[in-house]
Amino acid sequence: MSDTSGKPAPTLAIEVRDLHKSFDGQPALRGVDLVVPEGTTCVLMGVSGSGKSVLMKHIMGLIRPDRGTVLVEGQEVARMDESELDQMRRKQGILFQANALFDSLNVFDNVAFPLRERTQMSEVEIRETVNKTLAKVGLSHATERFPGELSGGMQKRVGFARATILQPKILLYDDPTAGLDPLTTAAVNEIIVTGKQQLGATSIVITPDVASAFGMADNLALMHEGRIVESGPPAAFRESQHPAVKAFLRNWLARRSQNRPPQG
Ligand SMILES: Nc1ncnc2c1ncn2[C@@H]1O[C@H](COP(=O)(O)OP(=O)(O)OP(=O)(O)O)[C@@H](O)[C@H]1O
Ligand SMILES: [Mg+2]
Repeated sequence: MSDTSGKPAPTLAIEVRDLHKSFDGQPALRGVDLVVPEGTTCVLMGVSGSGKSVLMKHIMGLIRPDRGTVLVEGQEVARMDESELDQMRRKQGILFQANALFDSLNVFDNVAFPLRERTQMSEVEIRETVNKTLAKVGLSHATERFPGELSGGMQKRVGFARATILQPKILLYDDPTAGLDPLTTAAVNEIIVTGKQQLGATSIVITPDVASAFGMADNLALMHEGRIVESGPPAAFRESQHPAVKAFLRNWLARRSQNRPPQG
């Protein structure tokens, strides 16, 4: 990429080059290229089965590529040994569709878990850190409750608090609002934006919620049949002439107008 503005090139938190992956001879990724500059939010969109989750799992080091490279903070994921992978994952906060909270632990202990597992902090320090984190997501009143006693949105906030308590530099969200009502969805989207502002983290967000995507993204990317066919800031993305982008946005607008409640 050439930059004629004279600005230094941004540091890339994540860099994916020509990534290929097949399962049983069926290609899932067909040459993905994606760069995510440090401190920015990239929203990944695309129809079901286009390869979004498989791409994200490569970034987490859960899947090995057939071909191509994934660099996280300049280090090639496929070349990391177990301890390097472990180190990388400490820097990643991961929020999936399912919250994966521990049902038998209360909110406080769920959020404290990474600190107890991964750090040498004393219980006093842990208490202070957890309470501060829970206050940020508006859950100070719920520390003693168990996941089964929380609403979906509260569970998400606990999940977010736990995923971010080690202050990760990279946040990965795979469809974090799936199955949530509109109000809770809005609350989760708010959390994602807060995560960026409070942690200065680099984020990749997979979401089918196009309106929110436009609101939170520094860059939008569309996956189509195992490739990223377009990426760029929201204003440029909206104007894309790529047929897959046009079809995707047209489809979204049509669905949106069908779902809109009658005016007046
Ligand atoms: N572990 C696996 N084994 C075999 N095939 C897989 C595996 N994981 C994904 N695939 C296939 O790879 C393709 C891409 O899947 P992926 O989960 O990335 O889609 P997606 O874009 O995340 O879709 P969705 O929006 O529904 O979550 C699909 O055809 C899927 O069936
Ligand atoms: Mg998926």
